Amino acid sequence: MDKERKLIIAGNWKMNKTVAEALDLVQGLKRELGSVKEVDIVVCPPFTAIAEVSKAILDSNIRLGAQSMSEHIGGAYTGEIAAGMLKEFSVRYVILGHSERRQYQGESDALIAKKALAAHAASLKPIVCVGETLNEREAGETEAVVARQLQLGLARLSKAQMEETVIAYEPVWAIGTGRNATPEQAQTVHAFIRRSLAAQFNDAVAKRVRIQYGGSVKPANARELMGQPDVDGALVGGASLEIRSFSDIVKNSI
Ligand code: PGA
Repeated sequence: MDKERKLIIAGNWKMNKTVAEALDLVQGLKRELGSVKEVDIVVCPPFTAIAEVSKAILDSNIRLGAQSMSEHIGGAYTGEIAAGMLKEFSVRYVILGHSERRQYQGESDALIAKKALAAHAASLKPIVCVGETLNEREAGETEAVVARQLQLGLARLSKAQMEETVIAYEPVWAIGTGRNATPEQAQTVHAFIRRSLAAQFNDAVAKRVRIQYGGSVKPANARELMGQPDVDGALVGGASLEIRSFSDIVKNSI
């Protein structure tokens, strides 16, 4: 598949995997995907497995991401993890504003904007998640919701920082439900996101930013989703927990 932008497929393991399970998974992914050059492959383990996974993927084509981080650089923030701490383990990416964190931790767009800036300050590339709920979609508010999340969540970034930021479009109703957006639905919103980025930054920046789709991505729907002109990768939850399904998603996307 020939795309304007290099695909980036990331596995969001969420609150799953002991260290031993995490190592089994990445060893398997190294075996299955070791020769893949066409796709940037990223795994996002829980914090407790980051150190060991980091060692296990040294000298491989698999990159490391975190699932969240603090907006602060350090200090009295019990339970938080700073960008600089992630850098110690060669973490390259960090997921920000996942809908589960917006929902359960009450993360706001303003907070996500601070985190995105803190990530760039430490040379981590944020994967900023946006997406509407089912109620919002049914009320015809999808574009308004996504526009607001982009406008506020990316408000502090320079053009250069934006180019090094990944957007993940994850309709909330498609996450963990088995019900993915159709390729047409995804493409429509991805194109809208790119137009919004052009207005907020400029055309050149918008053309370079990679926009992942997330929400019930599986081996069976990966090819069609990745085939859309503005879909530049995937953020995969459930199907990233098994060697077979995650590696098939990557292989089916090439
Ligand atoms: P899912 O999750 O693939 O299990 O739907 C996607 C995500 O939350 O990033």
